[in-house]
Amino acid sequence: MNRPPAVAPVRLGWRRRLAEDLRTAASRDPAARSRLELVLAYPGLHALWLHRLAHRMWARPGLRLAARLLSHVNRALTGIEIHPGAVIGRRFFIDHGMGVVIGETAVVGDDVMLYHGVTLGGRSSSRGKRHPTLEDGVTVGAGARILGNITIGAGAQVGANAVVVKDVPPGAVVVGIPGRVRGTGGGEDLVDPALLI
Ligand SMILES: CC(C)(COP(=O)(O)OP(=O)(O)OC[C@H]1O[C@@H](n2cnc3c(N)ncnc32)[C@H](O)[C@@H]1OP(=O)(O)O)[C@@H](O)C(=O)NCCC(=O)NCCS
Repeated sequence: MNRPPAVAPVRLGWRRRLAEDLRTAASRDPAARSRLELVLAYPGLHALWLHRLAHRMWARPGLRLAARLLSHVNRALTGIEIHPGAVIGRRFFIDHGMGVVIGETAVVGDDVMLYHGVTLGGRSSSRGKRHPTLEDGVTVGAGARILGNITIGAGAQVGANAVVVKDVPPGAVVVGIPGRVRGTGGGEDLVDPALLI
């Protein structure tokens, strides 16, 4: 007998998503040995799965406090703090994870990877969009801080411990404090001089 069309795709979607997460983690981390190891011992995956639930709850105003509490539990379990309002794309992976902070209005595209200690934070206490947007394929090294409502272009790489407060063009490699695009003949300063005062 045929199943109702509304049920099967949802179930399939959930399983496919999980399989995709595991494939992504396996391809991103050469230390990964098996699917079981990934499921049991990868806080980046646990944080992502709990965030997906918290994000769905956040969409329902009556569940917002519960969503915050779930994100709080997520942080206690994984060391990764993701505000339930943050929008995260497919095939996202956080390696190691401890100390990652992702703010409420951050937007993360597909195929993005973060290492531990990364902050996608705000630079002001005003409401509205105040956290960064990371386009598809961005990689952010350990300890890097990306602050404010800026855009990191598709495929860009942010070096470990960089502090970035201005837009980064697609495909660029940014290192240092303040963040500078590397490989453009001495480096283009990305930082608004007003911020250095
Ligand atoms: C920025 C990064 C992506 C560049 O990688 P790459 O293109 O292979 O660069 P290279 O290693 O060839 O280094 C090129 C130059 O950039 C410098 N550089 C590399 N990474 C840097 C960083 N994070 N901050 C400052 N300078 C950096 C190198 O010293 C070198 O300088 P030189 O040309 O004066 O000798 C990479 O170094 C990085 O930081 N990746 C994050 C990795 C990470 O967080 N790993 C955590 C694993 S647990």
